Amino acid sequence: MDQLKKREEAIGRFFSKEASGWGERHDDKGIPASAKLHVDAVIENNSESVIDVGAGPATVLLKMIEGGVKEGTAVDLSEEMCREAERRVRENSLEDRVRVVKGSFLEVEVPVSDAVSLHRVLCCHPDREGMIERALMADPSLVVITIPRSFAPLRLLVNLIIGIKELFSKGFRPYIHKESEVIAQMQDKGFNLEKRTTKGPWVTLVFKKQPSQN
Ligand SMILES: C[S@@+](CC[C@H](N)C(=O)[O-])C[C@H]1O[C@@H](n2cnc3c(N)ncnc32)[C@H](O)[C@@H]1O
Repeated sequence: MDQLKKREEAIGRFFSKEASGWGERHDDKGIPASAKLHVDAVIENNSESVIDVGAGPATVLLKMIEGGVKEGTAVDLSEEMCREAERRVRENSLEDRVRVVKGSFLEVEVPVSDAVSLHRVLCCHPDREGMIERALMADPSLVVITIPRSFAPLRLLVNLIIGIKELFSKGFRPYIHKESEVIAQMQDKGFNLEKRTTKGPWVTLVFKKQPSQN
């Protein structure tokens, strides 16, 4: 089995243990402030369809639906996160508007969608470039990404701690991808950075497709 597959299995296992608590936290305290920025951006953009990549229990996607988005696709690697998402979709009678897809976003079918939301998912995955590349296959006009802020000294420290912890962990580790590389990749693919907002250790980047020249 290749390294990436092993890594993704570890991500799935790690988040399956977190799944019920994760959803309950959002139910009790609301979704995080950075996630609200995703909901706002998608609604302000009048997006009718959204893919939520690494959707977890789909609490963020369901807020988007509540805000007027017509249909959504929640993709997650973790079996238990998908179960939580499916339960919420059922409880809200949204089966005809929200599809839950279990699998790696790098492998599942990507439906054409107005918007793609990647809230705190790139920080779990080694392949930033592949995940963004895949998101753009949806041909979205809006992409919203939240990643950890990447101060160089902090990154070094975190990578050091992670390196040591990794020796004892079962394969899951966070990743601090460089914000500048995310922005450069998006700009290279014809997206403008419309808005940048920091919330604690997180930065949310709202990208819109540049109007075509012809
Ligand atoms: C930190 S959680 C965030 C969940 C959700 N976005 C939220 O903010 O509540 C990251 C989620 O991304 C999922 N994930 C990580 N890499 C993925 C991939 N390649 N494809 C699909 N899901 C992935 C994990 O299983 C996990 O549920």
